[in-house]
Amino acid sequence: MNPPVVAVVGGGQLARMLAEAASPLGIRLRVLAAPNDEGASEVVTDVVIGSPDDPEALARVAEGADVLTFDHENVDHDALEQLEAAGVVVRPSVATLRCSDKAYQRQRFAEAGLPVPPFLVLDAPTPGGSAETVAATVDSALAFAERWAAPDGHVVVKASRGGYDGRGVWMLPPAELAAFVRDWSGAPLVLEPELSLVGEVAVLLARRPSGEVATWPVLETVQVDGMCNEVVLPSGWPPEVEARALDVAVGVAEAAEAIGVLAVELFLVGDRADPTVIVNEVAPRVHNSGHLTIEACGTSQFAQHLRAVLDWPLGPTSPLAPAATMVNVVGAAGADPRQRQALALSTVPEAHVHLYGKTARPGRKIGHVTVVGADRALTRQRARTAAAVLSGVD
Ligand SMILES: Nc1ncnc2c1ncn2[C@@H]1O[C@H](COP(=O)(O)OP(=O)(O)OP(=O)(O)O)[C@@H](O)[C@H]1O
Ligand SMILES: [Mg+2]
Repeated sequence: MNPPVVAVVGGGQLARMLAEAASPLGIRLRVLAAPNDEGASEVVTDVVIGSPDDPEALARVAEGADVLTFDHENVDHDALEQLEAAGVVVRPSVATLRCSDKAYQRQRFAEAGLPVPPFLVLDAPTPGGSAETVAATVDSALAFAERWAAPDGHVVVKASRGGYDGRGVWMLPPAELAAFVRDWSGAPLVLEPELSLVGEVAVLLARRPSGEVATWPVLETVQVDGMCNEVVLPSGWPPEVEARALDVAVGVAEAAEAIGVLAVELFLVGDRADPTVIVNEVAPRVHNSGHLTIEACGTSQFAQHLRAVLDWPLGPTSPLAPAATMVNVVGAAGADPRQRQALALSTVPEAHVHLYGKTARPGRKIGHVTVVGADRALTRQRARTAAAVLSGVD
């Protein structure tokens, strides 16, 4: 029997870690990488170079594969629909991939009765559009800010597509909103009030075509400058709050008809002793917030994604230890983490280091470190130390 072949659109670190999980399962991974993609090509031998917007490249990577899946969502949906129509098994489906659009997901989840923040979707005025259209767009933005922004609070403006790691998210004082909207000419915008967060958590889950769902334990996510920097297990929230988060996340997965891994980022707002759970955003794929599942849980998000998209039985997700922390390794000027690996491992021998083979640039995620242990605070301290040594910022 020929080994199963999973084709992945994207050649970054997520495809690389999918390949690392595919190998022991006897799965062949083939990736569609852009010419400048770094990450997967160091460990995957079956690489198609091309653009995720090119129907011909997509068809080439999917040819003969059991399933086509993704390490990012910036893919031409029309081309994918054509492949689906031609019989290629695309998981998650194009319908689910549409949920990576922040405007679309807000609308879809609100319609499904899921808790989302107050929001307004604004189509950018077309460049050169009439003065009335521009004025009407600006007016509706200002009316939204007037209605929802706290007196000294910001309005959060998000590009519906194309943003990541906090790029594409702006926290604006209401006074700057009109000029921003007037000058914007990109994808539709989503406006939200700045919520007073008491915490942020993520729920990773996997869903099979049959509807079977496996959830990992709730994780605490810590963002720095809008970018997720640290993920901690356990979440630190009481069981009833975790149960609420899991409930909302399963509702999101069903509303999105997700197949494979889905990451659900959640806001906790209101009373710190009894917070309300609100959906921030979803990613219909493996995700940075789930990296610690590699060493800390019964099945990693990468192995589980492969199992789910191949419609194989899902694995156990329980934690293997009482605590774990993942910290991203972010590039800093003049420091190559590969040269600092030995120092990092002598400083924190228990650190699980993952370097993605990407060129270090300031602010760029180039790896991560996970420390698993008995004590939450200690794993956090040790993972931070190892990541700081690798990043060259110790
Ligand atoms: N309405 C809001 N109120 C308060 N904080 C917010 C709001 N929206 C976003 N944030 C903060 O900004 C962070 C990034 O926002 P969001 O998740 O929408 O952006 P992103 O660029 O897609 O992030 P990433 O790719 O890192 O997940 C959130 O995790 C949260 O800390
Ligand atoms: Mg986010």
